[in-house]
Amino acid sequence: MKLEEKVKKLVEELTLEEKASLCSGASMWETKPIERLGIPSICMTDGPHGVRLSEGENLEEGLRAVPATCFPTACGLAATWDTGLLHEVGTALGKESNSLGVHILLGPGVNIKRSPLGGRNFEYYSEDPVLAGDLGAAFVQGVQGQGVGTSVKHFACNNQEYERMNISAEIEERPLREIYLAAFERVVKKGKPWTVMSAYNRVNGIYASEHREFLTEILRGEWGFAGIVISDWTGVEDRVKAAQAGLDLQMPGPASANDQRLIEAVRSGAMAESVLDEIVARYLTVILRAVESKKGAAFDQDAHHALARQAAAASMVLLKNTEGLLPLQPGTFDSLAVIGGMAQDPRFQGGGSSEVTPTRMDSPLEEIKRAVGGKARVSYQAGYPADDQVDSELLNAAVETAKNSDVAIVFAGLPAHMESEGYDRSHMLMPKNHVKLIKAVAAIQPRLVVVLNNGSAIALGDWIDRVPAVLEAWLPGQGGGRAVADILFGEINPSGKLPETLPVCLSDNPSFLNFPGENGRVLYGEGLYVGYRYYDKKRIEPLFPFGYGLSYTTFQYSDIACSRAQMRDTESVEVSCQITNTGTRGGKEIVQLYVQPGQSRLQRPEKELKAFAKVELAPGEAATVSFSLGYRDFAYYDPLREDWVVDTGTYTVLIGSSSRDVRLETDIQIESSQGPLPLTKDSSLGEWWANDRGRTLLLQLLPAEYAELLSPESPGVPAFIMNMPFRKLVFFSGGALTEEMLDRLVAAAQG
Ligand code: BGC
Repeated sequence: MKLEEKVKKLVEELTLEEKASLCSGASMWETKPIERLGIPSICMTDGPHGVRLSEGENLEEGLRAVPATCFPTACGLAATWDTGLLHEVGTALGKESNSLGVHILLGPGVNIKRSPLGGRNFEYYSEDPVLAGDLGAAFVQGVQGQGVGTSVKHFACNNQEYERMNISAEIEERPLREIYLAAFERVVKKGKPWTVMSAYNRVNGIYASEHREFLTEILRGEWGFAGIVISDWTGVEDRVKAAQAGLDLQMPGPASANDQRLIEAVRSGAMAESVLDEIVARYLTVILRAVESKKGAAFDQDAHHALARQAAAASMVLLKNTEGLLPLQPGTFDSLAVIGGMAQDPRFQGGGSSEVTPTRMDSPLEEIKRAVGGKARVSYQAGYPADDQVDSELLNAAVETAKNSDVAIVFAGLPAHMESEGYDRSHMLMPKNHVKLIKAVAAIQPRLVVVLNNGSAIALGDWIDRVPAVLEAWLPGQGGGRAVADILFGEINPSGKLPETLPVCLSDNPSFLNFPGENGRVLYGEGLYVGYRYYDKKRIEPLFPFGYGLSYTTFQYSDIACSRAQMRDTESVEVSCQITNTGTRGGKEIVQLYVQPGQSRLQRPEKELKAFAKVELAPGEAATVSFSLGYRDFAYYDPLREDWVVDTGTYTVLIGSSSRDVRLETDIQIESSQGPLPLTKDSSLGEWWANDRGRTLLLQLLPAEYAELLSPESPGVPAFIMNMPFRKLVFFSGGALTEEMLDRLVAAAQG
């Protein structure tokens, strides 16, 4: 029997009580079986950068996870800008989920990094919805290609931890559509996830789990989502409202009181039984598909560890490399100091629900020793204690060792307690003892490399000028140690680029004045201007811009070509360019395409990322990179029209190596298919005049001297007249024009 028919039959056979019971889980991670009808139970678990299957049901066991490969956290995966790699990581996670009996992996997290302080930034990809959305979609396809479901989270506007279960994100419709929902839209449309997880927070006063506009109208109605919406764990307030809004499954379970409320709502007529039928039909479609596809095959731990290393190396961003200090060449120095507790006890993932128990762990220190291969003396010093205190003894010993070595590598960043789900950071600073160590070593050792482990933007301005080389290694998972060594010693050419802007200081960040909110509300006052969109508009120089990252080789951009110079907005255009590796090492370049709109009816960011590609080139090799751009790549969301709009005008396509390093550009003239906005009595006289039909009507109606006065050609036509609402003509015509006449004109203008 086809799945659709099977589901239909089951919905008919289920009693009201059984249907309601399926609306909440059976336990922390499992759904309820209904044995008499052969409905199985399935298992879900976190995600997103490793399978975190709890060992048992009680609290202590529940907090421990069975070993699984720990890949780089999302902040690092995003810095790869490599959809192919995200697909591979997703595939590996799908295999591990299968092997561990997990049917749905709770990830990826595609919320926008609004502030560097967001406690879960390490679990999220980017400040940009195109990057977050495309990477999320590739991840989803990878996992689901193995017959395991995903849960795209947290839908929507979950951009902070402060009061995360209450806070209301107060946000205008344009940023909501263009930034915060856009990442989810891309994943849902391209990746087709089996499930979406609603967020804890409220959006404009409504709990995300009860947000009908989000869960039903937009997610299902506009984007065509066919899966189920699962609540975040305990994130259901009013169960009946949530069901009516489109929330299918409450987790964890059982939530018998809420199941009962659904039954009562149906019995009392407060909720139609069809709401429950639809929920159960969607639910069964996912559950039955999940169980059918379960494979139970063992996974290849070695291969996955190798992939974790590869992903970690691809994620690392070389921020600074003065005078080519890196890569280090064993044999060219006699002694190397490795300093910082994080070299021995690596900071490899963030805290909270995503914590994975790795299958093994590369030690950066041991991997560095291996890479040096006995060609130099390697000495280690912790430099700082695990807490935030400065320990003079450790500090002095580290400085002494660095002084007596030819080269020093300092590992620093954010310790685990500073970065976790559940709370935000209160500042962007690194711990004092890390900064003090870097400064002290920099003062006596000019050949100094700083390796950073952190899950989101931190302030580097205090010391970066004193240090020749800096590698941002993020929270790189279990293969991070090897990856760092491979990059420092040139085994791998760094190719990561920043998926978020690194501002000079926190007060430069667009959310600064409005984060994390007060009295239960957080105002998204920066509107559209999130991340680089803000720094661009305000002409603020960031410390390192969005999309930035160095390589050991150089790339030349040339030969930009456009398949057409003009088009209607419903058409698409191919843009290509040539990238040449002009250096002496093989390497990968992340090519970024931004669109800069010309004139537009509503304000727009200077430029926005619309596409990207990662190309691998041998020295001297060239490749053509092509992108296809369509309607949405030029559009903005117009709340007045309740639709995406492309204005007629000239759009500049920018191709570059970062958001601040544009190498090529070309113009495209686009003709809008939108008619003019309907004229109303509130439209200004200027708008009436600018509209062909409106102008004709005005000219017919008005005495000649008025028409002359209104004409833009007439000298000194006062702006206040043109800005005046049309309805004011009733007053100014001194009785010659009446409300009824104006109504007839509006009807004629719209007709
Ligand atoms: C987190 C989710 C997670 C869930 C289950 C919640 O606290 O917000 O991301 O999937 O717990 O662990």
